[in-house]
Amino acid sequence: MAYFERIKQFGVSGFVPEGWYWLTRSEKIKKSKAYPIKFLNTELVLLRGEDNTVRAFDAYCPHMGAHLCDGTVEGNAIRCPFHFWKFNSDGKCIEIPAQTELTNIPSLRPHKIREAYGLIWLWTGEASDPEDIPVIPELKGIPLDFTLGSNFLKNCHPNVVMINAIDAQHFRSVHQLIVDLNMKVTPLSERCIQLSNTTPMPEKNPILRFAKKFYKKALTYEMTYWWGHTGSVMVGPDFLHFYIIFALRPTLEGFTEGQTILVTKKRKGLIGLIINPIILFATKLVGNYFAKGDTIIFNRINFKFNTPIRADKAIIDFVEHYEAQRPANRYMQGTNT
Ligand code: FES
Ligand SMILES: [Fe+2]
Repeated sequence: MAYFERIKQFGVSGFVPEGWYWLTRSEKIKKSKAYPIKFLNTELVLLRGEDNTVRAFDAYCPHMGAHLCDGTVEGNAIRCPFHFWKFNSDGKCIEIPAQTELTNIPSLRPHKIREAYGLIWLWTGEASDPEDIPVIPELKGIPLDFTLGSNFLKNCHPNVVMINAIDAQHFRSVHQLIVDLNMKVTPLSERCIQLSNTTPMPEKNPILRFAKKFYKKALTYEMTYWWGHTGSVMVGPDFLHFYIIFALRPTLEGFTEGQTILVTKKRKGLIGLIINPIILFATKLVGNYFAKGDTIIFNRINFKFNTPIRADKAIIDFVEHYEAQRPANRYMQGTNT
């Protein structure tokens, strides 16, 4: 049996794993207003209440189906634009102007939403207590500075973009990095794995050979794959690590909408004020460098992992991890059109 015939989930556009998916920038969702947002085939209404919390519900009113984004936000509740039914912050109907009886009136279905890194995220899993938003493992619990980087669309499945970071062969061919990358896999949880380099940094490149004078250990390159389609990269010499989160989400066509998040440790006082913007800018350049080389490939690729070879070991490890991920059934209907 050919390798790809055993694959049921990896790179398959009708499959959506449980996880956190970015929806939009936080700044776009203003207080006391409602907005239409679509994730795959699911139409949502997002609103920011007077408590500044963003909530999301199925978009259509259970009475006659008016889109609630045309309604009004009252406190933390929303009132339908059509017959003025009012739903509270849990989605429960609390007022019908034409009658006082409210029994057997269906509620709005809520969706699990969280804000982080200047983005609004949707949890697609069934568990009532979702896992944390992706972080950089070595920065867990540390106060962070961050900025949003580029926003991009790639004409290929999110998995194809994700494996690019561990595609050892292409670092030589596309990015001209002469390195025999050998990635070690460490499972961090059922839904999260980390791949880190075990090979020293390439010394054939004169810039990197010069840079090596300034640190002791090998250049670290670590890729962490979280639930859903988000990955975080840590790269750098031991005195300065750069951190980039690649938040991806699938489109109905099986393409990728991505947003990079550039992260660094919060540094106190004047040093932080001066150094952190420089580090975040340098992080952006690192991210752009990696993103630039693959654009032409991603525009035309007809992805099928037909012939894995030994050098694709890290990708095979990721495929196995992904094949074990749980489906986000609620969001999968009609995604393989
Ligand atoms: S359609 Fe919403 S109240 Fe009638
Ligand atoms: Fe690349």
